[in-house]
Amino acid sequence: MAKVKITETVLRDGHQSLLATRMRLQQMLPQLQALDKIGYKSLEAWGGATFDSCLRFLDEDPWERLDILKNNLKTPIQMLLRGQNILGYSHYPDDVVEAFVAKAAAHGIGVFRIFDALNDVRNLETAINAAKKAKKKEKHSIEVQGCLVYTIGGPHTTDEYVSLATELADLEVDSICIKDMSGILKPYVAEELIRKLKKALPKMPLQLHTHCTGGFGSMTYLKAIEAGVDVIDCALSPLAEGTSQPCTETMIATLEGTKYDTGLDRQALVPIAKYFAEVKKEIIKEFSLRNSFDINPNILDIQIPGGMMSNLIKQLEEQGNSGCYEELLKEIPRVREDVGFPPLVTPSSQIVGTVATNNILCGARYQIVTREFKDLVRGKFGRTPVPIKKEFMKRLGIKAKDIITDRPANHLAPGMKKFREELRLKGFSNPSEEDILSYALFPTVAEEFFRKRTLKKLAEVGVLHPSDQDIAFYNAAPQEAIHFFKNRKK
Ligand code: CO
Repeated sequence: MAKVKITETVLRDGHQSLLATRMRLQQMLPQLQALDKIGYKSLEAWGGATFDSCLRFLDEDPWERLDILKNNLKTPIQMLLRGQNILGYSHYPDDVVEAFVAKAAAHGIGVFRIFDALNDVRNLETAINAAKKAKKKEKHSIEVQGCLVYTIGGPHTTDEYVSLATELADLEVDSICIKDMSGILKPYVAEELIRKLKKALPKMPLQLHTHCTGGFGSMTYLKAIEAGVDVIDCALSPLAEGTSQPCTETMIATLEGTKYDTGLDRQALVPIAKYFAEVKKEIIKEFSLRNSFDINPNILDIQIPGGMMSNLIKQLEEQGNSGCYEELLKEIPRVREDVGFPPLVTPSSQIVGTVATNNILCGARYQIVTREFKDLVRGKFGRTPVPIKKEFMKRLGIKAKDIITDRPANHLAPGMKKFREELRLKGFSNPSEEDILSYALFPTVAEEFFRKRTLKKLAEVGVLHPSDQDIAFYNAAPQEAIHFFKNRKK
């Protein structure tokens, strides 16, 4: 029996799940060398919500962050990619997906973990093929990992997941990850699922990603390990458990001296954990975050991810409607059934949650539906696990001619040229491809980030109160502008 391997999530999902994705690169740097020596299979450190958070909250260029991580790490850097949604919330044209994956690979991504919210494999094809192309091109090793987004209810059975896994294998991915973002994969179900997958795809490396939201995390890992899973995702103790992953040190200790022994040195993790415990305190203080998360075994019945639940509670409270909470919890599964039992994960969780809330607040169902909700019903996000009923489409006023049954991105015109032109019109005469991609994903946020970055660069050469002209000069020709301002100072 091969050793179990561990992917460490402290630099991505750990702080995304417990600290609202607020960890800065500066807070990671002092421990990168030490983390690199542990012998992890990979370090998850990029993608997911980190890209958005860098630009929106931390004034960090996500591309620069990746460069610095890569310069400090030999352990493969893993990123989480939302297939055709890249790291955003809607579908992007193929050329944008291809450019993004190529750039991420060039900046040092070693593992591309790729998922689609609806498990529609067609939405993974472009990203998977782009990653496979990068694998041939780049000098460093690249693993292309396809994901099964795990959910329960409706048509979702372990056999259905085995057939999805076969579809992924047909795309020639290097490995498959079962992504249990809500923490609802129970231990004995995990065992059954891993056994079936190993039987169907004996050579395919399997990785399991769970959250402790429902309290099952480490038990689920143990049963999965006994069933032959190859890799588990764990978070270092200060950023483990709760809505995050099971604890790295605990899993290492559990397997020590058994045939599954990870071979990793638990003692070497002690000072690293001590360091991140302090970082956690700093972040909680700076951003006034919650410090604890309760286990919630009820997610099994309502099938709503933890993050979505806390958002809904907050939303209802803000509108003075906290009394509707119980009603809403019953409404969400009904809406989910009406739209074909999608897994609830970004962006389907927000789409279903918003309309379910409207249904309750209006006192009548589907009086107010969002554009995204109609798009989901029309097939613009892909194929739902169960076909949506014709009567339901009629009820929303959707005509047969509006329905898409092929791959949604087939309907999107190329985007890179368009985004470059938009930036040019905003005064950036020669934007880098990285900037174009940041802008393509988060236009408003990226523009504001570029503005702040310009101010910082100008301040560095002594222009503390730049005029509009100074800013325009820098955006149009950064190098010339820096040269000019440096000399003017003299
Ligand atoms: Co996760």
